[in-house]
Amino acid sequence: PISDAFAERIIRWQRSHGRHALPWQNTRDPYRIWLSEIMLQQTQVATVIPYYERFLARYPDVASLAAAPDADVMALWAGLGYYTRARNLHRCAREIVAQWEGRFPPDAERIATLPGIGRSTAAAVAAFAYGERAAILDGNVRRVFARHFGMAGDPASAKVQAGMWERADAELPAPGPAQADDMRAYTQGLMDLGATLCTRGVPDCARCPVRETCVALREARQHELPTPRKR
Ligand code: ADE
Repeated sequence: PISDAFAERIIRWQRSHGRHALPWQNTRDPYRIWLSEIMLQQTQVATVIPYYERFLARYPDVASLAAAPDADVMALWAGLGYYTRARNLHRCAREIVAQWEGRFPPDAERIATLPGIGRSTAAAVAAFAYGERAAILDGNVRRVFARHFGMAGDPASAKVQAGMWERADAELPAPGPAQADDMRAYTQGLMDLGATLCTRGVPDCARCPVRETCVALREARQHELPTPRKR
């Protein structure tokens, strides 16, 4: 990594200042983590929590979800919006039962073959459930990286995205005996940083664990990074 111990600072900060009591953080069940990640893709944490609890009470595992009638799943999702997520969720559950003997695939690469699960969501599930060393790159994390590493350019361009993924891989915590715990804290820490300090608009740089190495802060370019999408 270019920035010395970026991951270590994120991990330490997450352990002392990050979020620890979210309902999907008290489990290593890939089904529960996957459900939370799908719900959180386009919906705020506070809105997701009651839906998440109701959904799990009704469908506690992949098998029960796979066996459910479509209309029941859609009814339970009603109000969360972006209904393609619910349809893909249901298709995924059925595919896990049909192709994976009811068990969640064992790594990020194979999780990403499931319907509607992209590379970042697959990595988040693998990192939280298995402690796998897999990089996430959602909208919040792209903002953190664009600012901290001074990565400009149209975020929709394939070249910019490839550069971001390369960076995300390069900054992962070092492999070792603590890898699984570190990956959970690091992955959550990146999400927490993007959601609570390195926000759109005016970020709270004074509290940021990586402010000493942040290119955007040093050059006072927080407002222009990430580069606004062309329109
Ligand atoms: N947004 C996406 N994944 C999340 C997670 N695990 N915790 C909080 N917010 C999230």
